[in-house]
Formats: sequence, structure tokens, C-alpha cells
Amino acid sequence: MIWLQSMKIYAAKEAGFCFGVKRALEVIDRLHELGHGVQVYGQLIHNRSVLDDLKARGIDCIDSSKELDANKTLIIRTHGIPKEIEKTLKKNKVNYVDATCPLVKKVHKIVEKIASQNKNTQILIIGDKNHPEIVAAKSYSPDALIINSQEEAHRLENKDSISVVAQTTMDADFFEKIISILKGKTGNLHIHNTICKATKVRQEAIKKLAPQVDSVIVVGGKNSANSKKLYNIALQKNKNTFFIEKSSDLHHTDFIEKMSSFRSVGITAGASTPPGEIEKIEKLLRNLNINAGKETNHGRRKRNPGHEYRNQ
Ligand code: F3S
Repeated sequence: MIWLQSMKIYAAKEAGFCFGVKRALEVIDRLHELGHGVQVYGQLIHNRSVLDDLKARGIDCIDSSKELDANKTLIIRTHGIPKEIEKTLKKNKVNYVDATCPLVKKVHKIVEKIASQNKNTQILIIGDKNHPEIVAAKSYSPDALIINSQEEAHRLENKDSISVVAQTTMDADFFEKIISILKGKTGNLHIHNTICKATKVRQEAIKKLAPQVDSVIVVGGKNSANSKKLYNIALQKNKNTFFIEKSSDLHHTDFIEKMSSFRSVGITAGASTPPGEIEKIEKLLRNLNINAGKETNHGRRKRNPGHEYRNQ
């Protein structure tokens, strides 16, 4: 057995489910409790354990309208769907509830408004062109350009006017870098910083925590944009950063061996990660840790002299 030496465990205060995810899951729970059959359009959120749990309750995620079951209520995923698909659902009088996060919806509405009111501006969406949120945003303005790197921003032609929106889960520092490049591309830059607050506070929390601990564990879906961003941010600040999908991924001797050399660990989780996963990881580490002092914002906080994580 490998014993960890007095490891301190710090859970970031801002981690796990955001309001958009909670809202969507509450809608599903309510319908399910009332006995409604439920289907979800696309992956509700990018988290394997949540999707597995939905499936176990008979709630399937479908990929196209062909799989629609007329006896079930359709839930639109948190990332939204393209305009044309929504139109088709309405036209076919499909019984659906839109659980698109209002902050994602806001991005789509901004793109739609600019496209209809200002034909002379180049709409620029900063984000991953394959992410459902961005696919849906682009559907509101087929002429919009999507970029996701500084190189792509440098390659853009100069324009009379550019209007920018961002993927809600974007790294705030990356967004600022792109904006500074765009300032050299036009004298008329309209900036819509649509990065959501849940993303910002989770990123700020891990930026502060990561350099102050020996290692960091980021919990989240491997296809979750905001979890990947958290991982990259943590990795820049702390090379001993691990990205796992769920707490059970930690039950490996290799991992436990690695952890045995650290005196402190910070834990954070993406906006689609259930809070229970963070608690399970804390518990697992505590159980491995003979004299561990626990310092976490989930429970009563114990002050460790020399370490102050006020803004975790
Ligand atoms: Fe919404 Fe932000 Fe969560 S856009 S779904 S509150 S990560």
C-alpha cells in the first residue's frame, strides 16, 4: 500500500455544475418525475457520467430528427441547435422544451441581430467550428467567419468593420490576445465579450490555485470545451496537472504512486461535472492520506498559515 504524506487537499470554490447545466437537468428531472418520456437533442452536456445516468433512466440523446419519438418530450441541449433545425421542429409541431443555456442563446441572438441590422460589418465568431454552440451560432449568419487561433486572426484581411463574439467557454486571456490582433485589422471593431461568468470565475479560481499547490486534478469530459480550457490553464501554471473524466479514473496504482510525492493537491472541475465527482475525489485522496489536513471550501475551512486561497 502507498501512503500519501500529509497531503493538503484544496477544492476550488468555483467548480462543477454551472447554472445553465443545473437548469437543463432540473427541466429533465421535472418532466421525468411527472412521468413524461424524454429525449435530448444532441448530448445534453459533455459529461460521460451525466449522460450514462440519463441513459440509465431511459433518457436518450438523439443525433437527428429521424430518431424523434412522437410520444416523448424533446429537450434541446444546453449548447443549442442550428436555426434550421429549430424551424423544422416548429413546423412539424414537435413537442419540445428549449434547455439551451440563456447565455449561449444570447450569443446566437447577437449574431442574428448584427447579421440583420449591419450588413457592412464582418461577423467574426471566435471558437471551435465543430462545437455545437458555434455550429448553432454560425447558422444565424452563414457569412460569419470562425477563427480559433492567433495565426488565423493574423491571416484575416483588413476590414472596414468587424463585430466579434466569443464561445461562452473561451479562455479570457486568449480572447484578449485575439482582440489585440483584430485592432490592427480594422478601425471599427465591435467587441461582444460573450464569455460567460461561470467560465470566467472557474478560470480565475484555477489560475490562482494552480501555482500554490504541488499538483492539480481537473475533472471533466474529454470533449467538454470548458473542462479542456481549465486543464490548459492549470497546466500552464502547474506541470503536475492531471485531466480525468471521473473519480473512478483515479483508482490506478500509477496515479496513486504519482500523488504520493505531492504534499498538496488542488481540485477543479468543468461546468458540466457533477459536484459529487469532486467530493468522491476528495474522499479518495483523504482515505489514502494518513495525516492529511483537509482544506476545502465545500466544508468548513481550516486556515493553513502561509496559504490563503481567498478567491478559489
Ligand atoms: Fe451556460 Fe456558461 Fe454553463 S454558457 S451552460 S453558464 S458554462
